[in-house]
Amino acid sequence: MHIAVLAGDGIGQEIMTEALRALDALGLDDLRLDHADVGGVAYRKHGRPLPEETLELAKTADAILFGAVGDPELDGLRRELRVESAVLGLRKELQLFANLRPAKAFAGLEDLSALKPEVAGAIDLLILRELTGDVYFGEKGQRTTEAGRREGYDVMAYDEDEVSRIAHVAFRAAQGRRKKLCSVDKANVLQTSVLWRKVVEEVAAEYPDVELSHMYVDNAAMQLVRNPGQFDVVLTGNIFGDILSDQASMCVGSIGLLASASLGTSTRGLYEPIHGSAPDIAGQGIANPSAMILSAAMMLRHSFGMETEATRLEAAVAQVLEQGVLGQDLGGSASTSEIGDAVVAQLAS
Ligand code: NAD
Ligand code: IPM
Ligand code: MN
Repeated sequence: MHIAVLAGDGIGQEIMTEALRALDALGLDDLRLDHADVGGVAYRKHGRPLPEETLELAKTADAILFGAVGDPELDGLRRELRVESAVLGLRKELQLFANLRPAKAFAGLEDLSALKPEVAGAIDLLILRELTGDVYFGEKGQRTTEAGRREGYDVMAYDEDEVSRIAHVAFRAAQGRRKKLCSVDKANVLQTSVLWRKVVEEVAAEYPDVELSHMYVDNAAMQLVRNPGQFDVVLTGNIFGDILSDQASMCVGSIGLLASASLGTSTRGLYEPIHGSAPDIAGQGIANPSAMILSAAMMLRHSFGMETEATRLEAAVAQVLEQGVLGQDLGGSASTSEIGDAVVAQLAS
């Protein structure tokens, strides 16, 4: 198991330390960790946020553990050098088109949610976010219009193959869950969504056991807060999935709790929390490492087929929450390393 460890910026470093300690506590054999620079850290050292050697390591490793990138001091760089381009570049280069972002209430901890406990308790959904298309990767730029005004543009586009491959992933995921798939789009306005919906309908013919519905994204944002329990698998495009998953995190309790897996056609995957580098709390040792630890669990499951170990790690995080070891994001005062300590202790017990 060769793992590329890309901790990145801000709290990325702090939470990665705890995820690696938790992995170590599982006592796995054959774990080989190779660290490399990514994001602002890499830009400062090598002049590029995604250095060639980092990309090479990511391509040859069996899995990538990714912390976060983001550095406010470097926000003024041109697009190609922006530190966020590192994570976008990794996703694109490795063709990790399927981003799995599960959101599930922790039993007995419904009151951590921003929603009423009886509403929050029912949340058990999987956002399947397309990750290598949409406005993120369409033609983009800034120009001056004929009238002499500055204009920015980002083209939204999906071709049918991009939609059908993520749709297949979503239907198969639904088959392994409660067999409900809600495709979220904006087909009342966007041509991209009209085609998206059509292709999803075509793919659905191959999965008669899955109940398919469609929802506009504005309604989906509202329904996610009104009654998140209605969703099983939520299939959506890159930008809508980005926004809805941050929202879903607060239905569970905190953005520091949601993990993700970015997958392509092989078992090589990139595993990262859904949150960013959190510059406002970086360096203080108060970030919640749970999302990073849970991302490591997703790695064990999806890249290495280690379901038992993945479940052990997830259970340890849940038990630590249940013990009331909570960070400031959840109204507690436990530090990053205290949460990590508690997870390690739980794994040893
Ligand atoms: P963010 O997710 O970094 O932070 C949003 C808020 O949530 C902040 O108040 C932060 O303190 C809090 N938060 C996030 N993770 C937390 C954790 N584990 N524990 C406790 N609190 C946590 O989003 P942002 O502030 O909009 O972005 C900051 C930087 O991160 C930007 O440069 C952005 O581009 C980047 N970013 C990177 C990724 C990634 O690497 N995949 C994801 C999102 C944002
Ligand atoms: C995420 C982040 C990224 C995204 C940014 C940093 C490019 O918000 O992973 O959710 O928009 O995909
Ligand atoms: Mn995001």
